Amino acid sequence: MKRILLIVSGGIAAYKALELVRLATKAGLGVRAVLTQAGAQFVTPLSLQALTGEKVYTDLFSLTDESEMGHIELSRSAELVVVAPASADILAKMAAGLADDLASTLLLATDKPVLVAPAMNVRMWEHAATQANIATLRARGVLMVPPDDGPMACGEFGPGRLAEPPAILAAILAALHDGPLKGRHAIVTSGPTHEPIDPVRYLANRSSGRQGHAIAEALVALGARVTLVSGPVSIPDPPGVTVAHVETACEMEAAVQAALPAEIAICAAAVADWRVAAAEQKIKKDGSGQPPALNLAENPDILAALSKPGPQRPRLVVGFAAETEKLAEHAAAKRARKGCDWLVANNVGGTGIMGGTENEILLLTAQGTEAWERMDKRALAARLAAKIGEYFA
Ligand code: CTP
Repeated sequence: MKRILLIVSGGIAAYKALELVRLATKAGLGVRAVLTQAGAQFVTPLSLQALTGEKVYTDLFSLTDESEMGHIELSRSAELVVVAPASADILAKMAAGLADDLASTLLLATDKPVLVAPAMNVRMWEHAATQANIATLRARGVLMVPPDDGPMACGEFGPGRLAEPPAILAAILAALHDGPLKGRHAIVTSGPTHEPIDPVRYLANRSSGRQGHAIAEALVALGARVTLVSGPVSIPDPPGVTVAHVETACEMEAAVQAALPAEIAICAAAVADWRVAAAEQKIKKDGSGQPPALNLAENPDILAALSKPGPQRPRLVVGFAAETEKLAEHAAAKRARKGCDWLVANNVGGTGIMGGTENEILLLTAQGTEAWERMDKRALAARLAAKIGEYFA
């Protein structure tokens, strides 16, 4: 059984730690909990003890605890240390290397990977001090489940809400996974988008989502924490993946931006290039015999936006190209135009590839072009994921 040491620090979100413990034990993990003094204002040691089935540690200087298990030993008794919720205070202590209570001492003494799930007021989260601490911790290899955006207990609105327990669990499982992409965050887009014409009609394409979904699953198998942003598809959500379901290109763009930061981004979705200035009511035939004109506006280019240099740019951005002619030539031009690192190009003209179960591609990287023979989309996903694993090795 894999074990985690869960540090629950102060904040209204501490109640969600109980749900996290429940999910983690259900997933077969052993959980030992440490409650800070501030955390104990929000949840009781007894409720944590009942859910973990283990002694809960709260005080650095308890001689009984030290004789049972010293704090150094405690800090190394699990394969992963998780801080959820992580308050601004504990993040600052971690960044500064303070050790003035049990939780901060354990965090300084541990030799295990650490995952933090911050939760605090939006202004505290956005404060330059907190952001600098986060940057320091990230640079040291601390794994992070970023806070969600939304209404807060304090009545304000914005980023700072603790990520939902299932998302934290997914990150924990990814961090415990042994694979070359262990703990790394990947965003994958998949499927078509639907662009409404009126309340009952939409523009779409033949994408099934099979390739993107298979890639998401293959990345999880190598230890990545994956956020899949999927357009409307009829295939099930892959296991172990956090899925954001969207309809339109604009929604897909927003979901991708919300999922950043990530080290890997793979844009496998067949995003509609155009959206329609949709009618509020169903468009009726007017009897003139003239077809109605559709007013089209260009959609945001999600891949190009992700590829732009900047602090949020993933280290590896992979685009897809659906072409019907001059595959190599169009693909090379598309890679340059979009600014992505790798480009997976396929010929979708009358080949049964779009919407089908097999794929045949050219892979364009900085090193050159590889032609991959026709194979099942899952096999292709596994091979692409393995190549990404090598890239990060
Ligand atoms: N893409 C995107 N956002 C868009 C359009 C495309 O992220 N609004 C991404 C796709 O997910 C894919 C890549 O860009 O990874 C290329 O998509 P494709 O449809 O082949 O290219 P387009 O940009 O649409 O170029 P064109 O239609 O001129 O071939």
